[in-house]
Amino acid sequence: MKTLAVANHKGGVGKTATARALGDALAGAGLRVLLVDTDHQGSLTLSCGVREPAKSLANVYAVAGHPPATLAEVAQPVAKNLDLAPASLALAAADAEIVARPGREFILADALEAVATRYDVAIVDCPPALGQLVINALVAADAVLIPAQPQPVDVAGVRLFLETVARIRANRRLNPGLSVLGILLTFWDKRLNTHKAAWKAMQANGWPVLPMRVPRTVRVAEAAAVGQSVLTYDPQNPAADAYRELAKVVLKWLRENGTR
Ligand SMILES: Nc1ncnc2c1ncn2[C@@H]1O[C@H](COP(=O)(O)OP(=O)(O)O)[C@@H](O)[C@H]1O
Ligand SMILES: [Mg+2]
Repeated sequence: MKTLAVANHKGGVGKTATARALGDALAGAGLRVLLVDTDHQGSLTLSCGVREPAKSLANVYAVAGHPPATLAEVAQPVAKNLDLAPASLALAAADAEIVARPGREFILADALEAVATRYDVAIVDCPPALGQLVINALVAADAVLIPAQPQPVDVAGVRLFLETVARIRANRRLNPGLSVLGILLTFWDKRLNTHKAAWKAMQANGWPVLPMRVPRTVRVAEAAAVGQSVLTYDPQNPAADAYRELAKVVLKWLRENGTR
C-alpha cells in the first residue's frame, strides 16, 4: 500500500473534492482504496454519503474520550473497492490532546501500516492547518498532493506549505522519503489573467505544477451534496476530465513505486 496525503494549510482549495474524486477514479481502475478523513469538519465523510459514523478517526487517535480502534475497525465501505475511515467533530480535540504523547507524529503512520495489506492506496484528506494531524499525514505519506487556487496570494501559501514538507523530509526520524506528487491548480478560470499569472509564477519558481487544471464548476459542490464525486455525478464535466488525468498521474506513480 502507498499513502498519498492531500494537503495544503489553506482551506477551500479543493483538497476534499480532489480526495473524493481520486477515490472514485482509483477504485474504478480496480485498486483497493482507503479514503481517510482527518478533518474534523468531515467534508470528505459527508461527500461519501456518511453521516454520524459510530467510529471515526477520533477512535484511531483515541481522543475526546473515544476508545482506541484500528483503521480496519473504523473503515466502512462506500463503493466497490472504496472504503472510508470517517472523521467526526471530536477530532477537533486531537491537536491539543496528542501534542503531549510520545510518538505523536507516528499515530496515523502506525495505524496505516496495520492495514497495508488490505488496500493498494490510502488517500488522506487533511484539515486546513499545519497542526499535529497534518504532520501525522505527512509523516505517514509516501507523497503529498497539494491542491491550490491559482491566485497570486496562494503562491505565497504554497511556498509556506512546501517549506513545511521540506522540514518533514529534512528530519530523518520523520519522513525523509516524502515526495511531492505535484501542485494541482483548482477553481481554474482560463479567462482570468490573474490565474495565468499565478500559474506562471509557480512554474517560474521551479515547483512541480501538474499539467491538468481543475476548472471552477458548481457541479463539484453539487456532487458533494449528494454524496458523490464529480466523476459519477457529471462524468462529461471538464472537472471530471481533469480528475481522470490526475488519476493517471497517480496510477503511474503507484506503478513506478511498486503497487500494481
Ligand atoms: N473545481 C471546483 N469548482 C467549484 N467549486 C469547487 C471546486 N472544487 C471544490 N469546490 C467546492 O468549493 C468548496 C471547497 O472545496 P473543498 O474541496 O471542500 O476544499 P478544501 O477541502 O480544500 O477546504 C466546497 O464547497 C467544494 O464543493
Ligand atoms: Mg477539506
